[in-house]
Amino acid sequence: HDHLITSKQLSRGAIETVLDYAAEIDADPSAVADRHADTLLGLLFFEPSTRTKMSFETAMKRLGGDVVDMGSVDSSSVKKGETLADTVRVIEGYADGLVLRHPKQGAATMASEFVDVPLVNAGDGAGHHPTQTMLDLYTIRENAGLDDLTIGIMGDLKYGRTVHSLAYALTNFDAQQHFISPESLQLPREVVYDLHQQQDGTGIKEHDSLEEVLPSLDVLYVTRIQRERFPDENEYQKVAGEYQIDADTLAAANDELTVLHPLPRVDEIAPEIDETHHAAYFEQAHNGVPVRMALLDLLLSDDKRIGGDSDE
Ligand code: CP
Repeated sequence: HDHLITSKQLSRGAIETVLDYAAEIDADPSAVADRHADTLLGLLFFEPSTRTKMSFETAMKRLGGDVVDMGSVDSSSVKKGETLADTVRVIEGYADGLVLRHPKQGAATMASEFVDVPLVNAGDGAGHHPTQTMLDLYTIRENAGLDDLTIGIMGDLKYGRTVHSLAYALTNFDAQQHFISPESLQLPREVVYDLHQQQDGTGIKEHDSLEEVLPSLDVLYVTRIQRERFPDENEYQKVAGEYQIDADTLAAANDELTVLHPLPRVDEIAPEIDETHHAAYFEQAHNGVPVRMALLDLLLSDDKRIGGDSDE
């Protein structure tokens, strides 16, 4: 079986297969309601989650299957010192596929080496979150289109795994990416290097202020500062509260601007924006269900169109 570990493994064709299928499912979910009866998905969340965990559970149940859930770290034998490798080998025996969220970057790659059932990375530390990327791309495609796209990606670009996955995936499209962050939270240099390799550097620009690029943007993707990843709380306090947007900020934006956020938000987007036509972040979260239904169906059916090199 194929695993889904990073968005680096995804080609444009693979992405379009998932997005097209998700749109079909969104239009008529009843057509796939029994496709995976008797299928069990194992949920292994070693870190908190609301959207990812619940939308995977919803997706599996809407395909006719069910989930088995390890529960929290505190209520599992992880608390007694069981290794991740042992945990996944055991739960593979209970379930037909695994969804893993873990605080350590690289955890999903390592875990995938121990299992034969499809394993999906639902976030590995500051690494990747490829299924979030799929629902981000779905939402971008619906609101702004994926070609001739100018996108601003703002906030914690260092620790934000949704950003890393999205940035790689967008190199498959005709997208100009503007990265906006304080200097201390810029994209990791190896990610910038990779992006330059893939796009000759033409589609990538880094900024410390939103002001200069805002009027040119079709999409503004805002992220939370990932407090839990800072080794030093003082360093977090230096950047907390930076890069917030409110109605005044958006006065300088293109009227067609779509504002996205993977959520949860803390204070990055003022609630007054929620009711404007710019806000698409709750729609984005809702799209997690049809997109994860499409992904699960393709992975569990061993459809080779979304395979690729998962050893990245
Ligand atoms: N966007 C996202 O991954 O949210 P959760 O952490 O709530 O799953």
